[in-house]
Amino acid sequence: MHLMADLKKELHEQVKRRRTFAIISHPDAGKTTLTEKLLLYGGAINLAGSVKARKAKKYAVSDWMEIEKQRGISVTSSVMQFEYKGYCINILDTPGHQDFSEDTYRTLVAADSAVMLIDGAKGVEAQTIKLFHVCKMRGIPIFTFINKLDRAIKNPFDLMQEIEDVLGIRSYPMNWPIGTDGDFKGVYNRKLKQIELFTGGNHGQTIVESKAGSVDDPVFRELLGEPYYSRLVEDIELLNIAGDDFNLKEVLEGNLTPIFFGSAMTNFGVEPFLEEFLEMAPPPGERVFTDTVIEPEMEEFYGFIFKIQANMNPNHRDRVAFLRICSGKFTKGMEVYLSNGNKKIRLSQPQQIMAQEREIVEEAWPGDIIGLYDPGIFKIGDTLSTAKPSALFTGMPMFPAEHFARISPKDTMKRKQFLKGIMQLSEEGTIQVFRQVDIGGEEFIVGAVGMLQFDVLEHRLLHEYNVELKVVMLPHKFARWLVTTDKDPRDLNLTSSTLIAQDKNEQYVLIFENQWSIDWAKEKNKGIELSDVSG
Ligand code: G4P
Repeated sequence: MHLMADLKKELHEQVKRRRTFAIISHPDAGKTTLTEKLLLYGGAINLAGSVKARKAKKYAVSDWMEIEKQRGISVTSSVMQFEYKGYCINILDTPGHQDFSEDTYRTLVAADSAVMLIDGAKGVEAQTIKLFHVCKMRGIPIFTFINKLDRAIKNPFDLMQEIEDVLGIRSYPMNWPIGTDGDFKGVYNRKLKQIELFTGGNHGQTIVESKAGSVDDPVFRELLGEPYYSRLVEDIELLNIAGDDFNLKEVLEGNLTPIFFGSAMTNFGVEPFLEEFLEMAPPPGERVFTDTVIEPEMEEFYGFIFKIQANMNPNHRDRVAFLRICSGKFTKGMEVYLSNGNKKIRLSQPQQIMAQEREIVEEAWPGDIIGLYDPGIFKIGDTLSTAKPSALFTGMPMFPAEHFARISPKDTMKRKQFLKGIMQLSEEGTIQVFRQVDIGGEEFIVGAVGMLQFDVLEHRLLHEYNVELKVVMLPHKFARWLVTTDKDPRDLNLTSSTLIAQDKNEQYVLIFENQWSIDWAKEKNKGIELSDVSG
């Protein structure tokens, strides 16, 4: 009885202090730099520069394969955990650059909130838009950090408008920059009604100190000088009159994004951001499984697999499956049911991954991510639970692939290995496999979010399954799942280039070459409903 009460209490404490989030951004906005600075403030690293040194963004594809081999596990798959003022923080890395793939999207399903990082000179960019939409669809809160304030940036009012116009979300600046034309002076903190002055720092290697004081302090009027001071007073007035009001409920529902201005490189504004973000961001929340809502403080253990990282070394087929814990306490060696199967499996080598270093985890809590040794038994979206019967996780959609190819084995005698390999990679989530309606045999259409996934596909089929692939790239760009229609899809009025296919769950999917064909399908077929993610 006492033990139960103790567990409940500990669960409550551990859940309350956890924050699990992903940083979404376009390449070069400064995600690596910001991550590094957050780790710096969390005391996880002493001197900034170590994450960056590991970054592999500028490698060509072939190098990337080599890197994966050497690393065994990719740096981009890392989840970084650190403590800051009583909080336990999990940062989920969202692979970008040529590593951009469905994994990037799926990672967001494991997050409870997102930090949207924007380059102040460039504004809202393509990859940010894609990732934003996934967050929006999930309804998670999004916090915005506008970066590179130490350089000339766009007018902050224009940036706010851009966020609203392009992303369709209202914003509330938590602080406001002073001097945005390359002579950045500092920010005005709207909550504290204080000015925080920028002092340059030592190129951001150590924690920066800032001076704070009330706007009305004559010292600041003098320090800032004109036209900065008057302009600030004017800007703040305008924001107070014309801007949205702050409303935490709206933030938590994903309808309002708090904006912070700062400079990850020089550390300016990073710590105030971290503190306010941690205060506002939600702890691990409930998750909907089939027919049930799983509350994090339930004693029954629940988690789901959102990513599988294969070992690129063909001699070691083992993989690492990443599990997001949703409820209950995880202890090393515990036994769970896999997606309601009959046999219990023992989780004996749970790992926590901090960049390259792997560490055995003794216990973990809701919100935490652990890497599990996978001899080939896990699939993306699998549920692990101590309950039997257990509810199943259903929140893992297929995300919009942007590249498509027809694939078949060069040697038709290799049919069996080919099918096995394709199914395996589809379960790992490396590729999406479609079968074109009315076309049988050994031909499939595969879709991927990133081009690199085709190289991985070819490489792995050859090395792990000994199958040489014939890959014919298609000009198609969009997959849309058919949500409702009374008609047989073959009877739809579609442009000649549109392909009708079925996904691995036999749901119908239309594959389009361009937006025009999508519009055609919508216009010519009354009542047709298309979705860019699967059910
Ligand atoms: P990413 O992970 O989002 O791709 O971005 P990353 O942190 O690598 O940053 C991209 C570039 O932007 C880097 O410059 C980085 O130093 C710079 N950067 C990041 N934050 C700031 C900032 O607050 N202010 C300014 N001025 N620059 C910033 P690089 O030239 O590509 O690399 P490096 O020479 O710094 O290594």
